Amino acid sequence: MAEHASKVTFRVQRYDPEKDSQLHMQEFTVPTKRGTTILDGLIYIKENLDSTLAFRTSCRMGICGSCGMLVNNYPHLACHTQIEEFHSNVITVKPLPNAPIIKDLAVDLMPMFDRHKSIKPFIIRNDEDEMAKPTREYEQLPDEVEAFEQFSYCIKCGICVSACPTSASDAKFLGPQALGQCYRYCADSRDAGAKERLEIADSNHGAWHCHLAGACSEACPKGVDPAFAIQLLKRKMAVQSLGGGRKEKPAEIYPPPTETKPKIQVPPFTVKK
Ligand code: FES
Repeated sequence: MAEHASKVTFRVQRYDPEKDSQLHMQEFTVPTKRGTTILDGLIYIKENLDSTLAFRTSCRMGICGSCGMLVNNYPHLACHTQIEEFHSNVITVKPLPNAPIIKDLAVDLMPMFDRHKSIKPFIIRNDEDEMAKPTREYEQLPDEVEAFEQFSYCIKCGICVSACPTSASDAKFLGPQALGQCYRYCADSRDAGAKERLEIADSNHGAWHCHLAGACSEACPKGVDPAFAIQLLKRKMAVQSLGGGRKEKPAEIYPPPTETKPKIQVPPFTVKK
């Protein structure tokens, strides 16, 4: 985009399963100014030019993961991507690959969510009573948090899956999102479910199918590194198959039940006259 340009052409991929037999591109002229995002452009089109345009959005601040799409053939969050980043008067917008298209730019992320659910993305404990009715916190040191923290920033936008060449060639591949989260929970010192999760990741369409292209980590808009998580997951699986693995017990509640909670000393309340 020229520095003072105030209009760009949006070339948007359209597809309405009720009307269209094939995908086609449609052009719209969109006014822009400094800071205008791809999502702003799409909202302008929907409100002023064509109300039938379908795309997904919610938070508009890079948190909810709804607005992933291909912008000039690379996956981005539309709300987090400014038009001027592309230095072009033409912006091409398409739906994320490796997911079925529902309509126009909206894709079906349910297959990814199903794979995410399949790896049990929650803390698994043996102390079920404490889980159901917590009485205290679980003890966790800063370096134990660091072991999984960056992987917990995943917003499930599907961008890593859309960038992954293995997901493109194997629809059953668990994919970088689910495998990255599999490692995130296995690496959590509060968790006791690594054994059952690693069995899921050690399947025909699991972690060993990752060829370490690294495209997932390159594309992730939140700076998560799922490719690294998958390699750490492979190491955990190899160690477990050799009879190794975590020997220490998962994090205990703190303070332990035998200790009473320290009482907070409240100074006596007095009113000054
Ligand atoms: S609208 Fe929520 S991440 Fe873009």
